[in-house]
Amino acid sequence: MSPQPFYITTAIDYVNGRPHLGHVYEKISADVLARWHRLLGDDVRFLLGTDEHGIKVERAAEEQGMTPQDYVDSLVPAFQECFDAYDLSYDRFIRTTDSDHKASVTALLEKIRDNGYLVEASYTGWYCEGCEAFKTDKDLPGGSCPEHPGRAPKWLEEDNLFFKLSAFEKPLLEHIAAHPEFIQPDYRRNEVLALLNRGLEDISISRSTESVSWGIPISFRPDSVIYVWFDALINYLTGTGFGTDEAQYANYWPTAHHIIGKDITRFHCVIWPAMLLAAGLPLYRTCFAHGWVLDKGKKLSKSAGGGSPWAEPQQLAVTYGADAIRYFMTSEITYGRDGEFTLQRFEEVYNAHLANGMGNLLSRAIGMATKYFGGVPAHSGTPDPLLSKVCAEATADTRSAMTEFRLHDAVHAAWKIISVCNEQIQAREPWKMAKEESQKADLADFLYGILESLRIASVLLSPVLPSKTRTCLEALGGEEAVACLGNGLDSVAAWGGLPPGRPLERPEPLFPRLDQLRKVEEA
Ligand code: MSP
Repeated sequence: MSPQPFYITTAIDYVNGRPHLGHVYEKISADVLARWHRLLGDDVRFLLGTDEHGIKVERAAEEQGMTPQDYVDSLVPAFQECFDAYDLSYDRFIRTTDSDHKASVTALLEKIRDNGYLVEASYTGWYCEGCEAFKTDKDLPGGSCPEHPGRAPKWLEEDNLFFKLSAFEKPLLEHIAAHPEFIQPDYRRNEVLALLNRGLEDISISRSTESVSWGIPISFRPDSVIYVWFDALINYLTGTGFGTDEAQYANYWPTAHHIIGKDITRFHCVIWPAMLLAAGLPLYRTCFAHGWVLDKGKKLSKSAGGGSPWAEPQQLAVTYGADAIRYFMTSEITYGRDGEFTLQRFEEVYNAHLANGMGNLLSRAIGMATKYFGGVPAHSGTPDPLLSKVCAEATADTRSAMTEFRLHDAVHAAWKIISVCNEQIQAREPWKMAKEESQKADLADFLYGILESLRIASVLLSPVLPSKTRTCLEALGGEEAVACLGNGLDSVAAWGGLPPGRPLERPEPLFPRLDQLRKVEEA
């Protein structure tokens, strides 16, 4: 069977400041899914990028005394470097200032116009520059935006181009009813349904160049730029080659999975699909909205002071290793819900799960196999019944959890292998078996089982811990064990993949102790 296409995207970040841990959280989760699908053997395309137009960026550039273009050019590398520090395996980094994106925005807008879904009207009302969104009085309790209390909403009176969003209420309700996977988790779907049931109004999608000049000009309407959200959402099409590579677009677009934060579901689950319907294009397959990463109950953001782990995500990856942060974010935060990140909790998890759980297991297992057998033991051929069963169940459970976007459950399912191996070493006391010649054959089977379980756990965890699991696989089975990751999950997670007889060397600690990491940091 030829590989199934799988297209995955994240929200593109505003470049009116540096990346923060909330941005990184979203991208890690999408990267885990992208890597998981590559492990399944799918043909994955993973898109990341930056949202560079709009008044918010224009103002931030002004404050720095820079042109918007110079300003975004100066900041985008910070996003790319940060994402690279987290080992994000994106296939394209899109910038909304890229020329193919400008062409794709123009093409889509013209299609929507040709299909009769644009009208001229005047907009009189509020605009929150923090959200880059038109607001009603209802959205501004006490006259201010709950998301941006320090930023007074602006009153606008502009003759604008409007998109007939109201025409799509019924088609969207029907699509959601027929495709429960379209908006996930279900509690976010219910919020969107409530919104649709309240009724949709047409929305303004142009801004006069008198109030905003930093945007994509509208080809058929002088002195107007396109509203930044309309521009930004289209990045998902540009990223497939819409308008430039029709074959690539046709291959990936219908398989699109959007990963976004819970604050932007209205844009992604109402406005965006309506735009696609208006242009006569297929809808994306799924939009999954995750929750907030919080610090002691508060949603922190760019305003967190410099030096805080929140404001310096790249530094966190340097100090602790990207994999450790990826692990924490994936396993400790229920995907979809809000979750806490504090250094204290992170360090507890690092010690308990990574250093003592997985790291110690690898070093003990290799230590014993080397001492008693000089390498991977030749076994009797009968799989250890408990360990092989645990591995098969963990593989099935990880697979179903990943399919249902339960990333936290997926990690816990795979981690069960590590916990059971550690428990079994304590329970079966291989060091005592080694003293009895009559138990040598059982010991060989048991230790082979532990090493093989560790190999399978590494395979299942490779999307979360890409670098540490590579070290683990190399230590157990050399480059070949790493190369097998490309063979498809069914083959690589099948019991017995580790060839016996291979000499082993005890590797450097997989997860060094935290006091050692800090020493390196200080030196
Ligand atoms: N530029 C728009 C998205 C356009 S997509 C066509 C935007 N940018 S943003 O920089 O404000 O946010 C980017 C993503 O980061 C969003 O999905 C947002 O929900 C997410 N997060 C921002 N702060 C966050 C946390 N504290 N926690 C988790 N995710 C957070 O919105």
